[in-house]
Amino acid sequence: MHNAAFAALGLNWRYLAFEVDPKNLRAAIAGAQAMGFAGLNLTVPHKLLAVDMMDALDESAEKWGAVNTVHFQAAGAVGYNTDADAITQSLREDLQLELRGAKVLLLGAGGAGRTAALKLASEKVAELFLVNRTPSKAEEIAGEIKKQFRSVSVTVGYPKAGVDLILNATSLGLKHDDASPLDEARFSVNQAHAVYDMIYRPAETALLKSAKAAGCRTANGLGMLLHQGAKAFEIWTGQPAPRDVMRQALEQNVYGHK
Ligand code: ATR
Repeated sequence: MHNAAFAALGLNWRYLAFEVDPKNLRAAIAGAQAMGFAGLNLTVPHKLLAVDMMDALDESAEKWGAVNTVHFQAAGAVGYNTDADAITQSLREDLQLELRGAKVLLLGAGGAGRTAALKLASEKVAELFLVNRTPSKAEEIAGEIKKQFRSVSVTVGYPKAGVDLILNATSLGLKHDDASPLDEARFSVNQAHAVYDMIYRPAETALLKSAKAAGCRTANGLGMLLHQGAKAFEIWTGQPAPRDVMRQALEQNVYGHK
């Protein structure tokens, strides 16, 4: 999506992928800066590690405690987080959800789950139910939300009544034969109006499949991927991202659509 966007704007820039061992992350960031890179994106497991390697943190990285975008400036490496805003932007755009006052069941309490939980709380959802294979991690996030966002009612465990949204932030579903992360014996998918899966490949996870069959509005994580990338593009280039071009490139490269 970035290379398509550079081409559309006539920028002689390139976006390249590098696999970096976490033990070499500091050297890789310094090397990229020394070679005149405009910036970097970081993914698992580098997003948390990089926080302490930046010369400065934008308030987005400060707030969410993770860096997914680096911009090399005269003063050094500045860390940003474009993931959190992308979650809510995609929920609004792809599911037409009003988050303020909503009831949300969030599956997963890893890095993505934590960011989603805190972002949803900051958007003033009314009720947040956190479910995770390892409940202690959900408890920890619930504690953080209780301290920071008093108006949000947060519970660890499945809801007793219907919700506006089920949001999957676990990695269960990435493999084609993965089960759904939703325990349907505890909470049936047709008790939700909408279901969002952060996973975008495969395009339809077991969770989304059963949500569709139950008549829920559904969306996968492609919109999140798009919006975090578009925001990073704007940070690096200082120009508005051509989002339509980027979406089309994503669909073509991820799903092979023309
Ligand atoms: P990410 O940065 O993508 O969130 P992560 O921090 O490793 O990655 O988190 C992965 C999430 O998927 C966690 O919520 C994890 O549950 P645990 O906290 O219990 O590990 C969840 N997850 C991964 N594999 C799972 C599985 N087989 N069943 C249920 N949950 C799973």
